[in-house]
Amino acid sequence: MSSWSKLKNDIRLKLKNVKPIHYVIIMAIFIVFHLISPSNSSSSNSSKNTKLPINIPVDDYSAKVLNLYNSGSKGPIDFEWNQFLNIDGFVEKYKSLIEPLNCEEFGNRIRKSEKTRYNCIDDPDHKVPISLQENVLLYVDETQRKIFAKVHLLKSFPNPSKLIYLFHDNKIEIDVNKEPKKLKHKTSNLDKEIPKLTSYNQDLSAKAPIELDYEQFNYRTCLNSYKDESPVQQLHEKYKETRVARKYFSEAYLLDAQGTFNLDWRFFNSSEVISKDYDTLNMAKMSGIIRCWLHFCEKYNIKSFISDNNLIGWAMNGLHLPMEKDFNFHLPIDDLMKIIDMGFNQSIIFDYSDYNQKVHGSYLLDISPFFKMRDRNNQENTIDMRLIDIDSGLYIDLIALVNFSYERLFNYKAKPILQSLNSNDLIKVDKKIEIYKDKKENLLYSKDLDIYRFENLNKLLPVKFENAIGYIPKDYMEILTNEYFEPLKTSRGSFKFREFLNFWYPLEWCKMPPFTSVATKEDDEECLKNPLISGIQKSISKSASYHEQFMEWFKNLDVANYNLKPDDLSAIIYH
Ligand SMILES: *[C@@H]1O[C@H](CO)[C@@H](O)[C@H](O)[C@H]1NC(C)=O
Ligand SMILES: *[C@@H]1O[C@H](CO)[C@@H](O)[C@H](O)[C@H]1NC(C)=O
Ligand SMILES: *[C@@H]1O[C@H](CO)[C@@H](O)[C@H](O)[C@H]1NC(C)=O
Repeated sequence: MSSWSKLKNDIRLKLKNVKPIHYVIIMAIFIVFHLISPSNSSSSNSSKNTKLPINIPVDDYSAKVLNLYNSGSKGPIDFEWNQFLNIDGFVEKYKSLIEPLNCEEFGNRIRKSEKTRYNCIDDPDHKVPISLQENVLLYVDETQRKIFAKVHLLKSFPNPSKLIYLFHDNKIEIDVNKEPKKLKHKTSNLDKEIPKLTSYNQDLSAKAPIELDYEQFNYRTCLNSYKDESPVQQLHEKYKETRVARKYFSEAYLLDAQGTFNLDWRFFNSSEVISKDYDTLNMAKMSGIIRCWLHFCEKYNIKSFISDNNLIGWAMNGLHLPMEKDFNFHLPIDDLMKIIDMGFNQSIIFDYSDYNQKVHGSYLLDISPFFKMRDRNNQENTIDMRLIDIDSGLYIDLIALVNFSYERLFNYKAKPILQSLNSNDLIKVDKKIEIYKDKKENLLYSKDLDIYRFENLNKLLPVKFENAIGYIPKDYMEILTNEYFEPLKTSRGSFKFREFLNFWYPLEWCKMPPFTSVATKEDDEECLKNPLISGIQKSISKSASYHEQFMEWFKNLDVANYNLKPDDLSAIIYH
């Protein structure tokens, strides 16, 4: 974490009970202090180089695995969540809260009612005397949420199926033993092991568009290409008759962050990453997850494309929108099946692509077994996969598309309850009926009322997103205007897109002159005097100015001959 975000966090923690005006005054003092002593921020070089909190037990475990791999042992390998995340260390730290637990006591702590579904088992002889089998859909305070997550990981959460390593120019997969067991092996470190597996030569060759085939969205055709033993066929069989299922993915509902459920309950670590405040930690984490997904797709030839607010973010400056909390990518059902068939459900992906820049992360790829149900009546399960940051619980949603017939929309209208549609959804349905009335052929559907025309998607064009290679649908502007009223507006919530800075800043940080809606270059330059802003500008300016030039050229593009020649594909390191 940069010294600035750390400082902000420290202040936030210490001043929970202080009135906002005091907070502002104290912040102002810190800003002045920072301005008159610029050496302060660069005084400790080691902490400046560590952009994200590095998770030590994860790195230790991972270095052991790579040492084994480098000495010729290709797995399967021992694994337990306890060692991987040092849950013993957590239990020790929260001993006074964990030791006296039993299911009833914990139920009281989280204010469980009679009706709450609560799957707890007493385990009095264990130093963690309960076992929590599944999430509770209750608003719970932060500490109990942490305990909830760690107890589940320790006692009930299955081992990952594989460890997938993404390097700059290489990838490896290692199988994991099912039975939880500590990996006993000599200590090593990543700095020693990673260079044996990769070089940092960037593949900057020209990337061509991806040509899609409408059959890649046809559930039947895709299914039929798998053998009976494939997990794809087996899950299809298993849920053949199922129409409605309990929600597969589940979030950490938090007492003091009602309405924001953007953290996976199992990896919930702190509410810091969903705080309303604009936060470089949050941006860095989200950027890491997105880059991991893009690297994964590139290495495994997955045809995923940038969608929804990420498409807006890309169009504006090539980065995700910092004020948003939900991010997704779409992919053909064919590619979802391919990932399931490769046995990647609940694999841990170590993204070491940017290890030479001291940026790395580990993520769980979790796949819903209900991919068979492609309709709205399974409204609880509209998400097919999640890529979850193991360190924080932040995630992105990954959603498959299948073919769709226009007439279905009238079914939806006729039976809104059966299709779990509320009045807002019905407005959307009407809009789709209107948009596609003259072009009813070749539609695609995400089960969440996102509808595309195949011709608008195809081809997928390579672009740089978050400074990695991503793909956008050919008619991205038409797709955006079908979906959003004013997709490229420059005001979003309390944020304003500063044209000369190429970035979104909260109005609070970077005021607009009174009675104007368009900032001048001078106004934007004035903003740069704020050290928080100049820090972020340093992080993003290279990629944002690349994007600006790129767009100039891209707007007048002849798609027939389009190729992307990327320049540099390194991480964006938020200061
Ligand atoms: C949890 O968050 C803290 C603070 O951001 C971080 O240091 C730690 O590595 C995270 N992960 C775990 C598993 O505790
Ligand atoms: C992924 O793994 C979890 C845990 O074992 C399981 O509940 C889920 O059904 C699996 N999903 C798929 C697609 O196999
Ligand atoms: C998708 O395409 C297949 C094959 O053309 C067809 O049988 C099926 O009915 C289509 N599904 C939808 C929802 O349109």
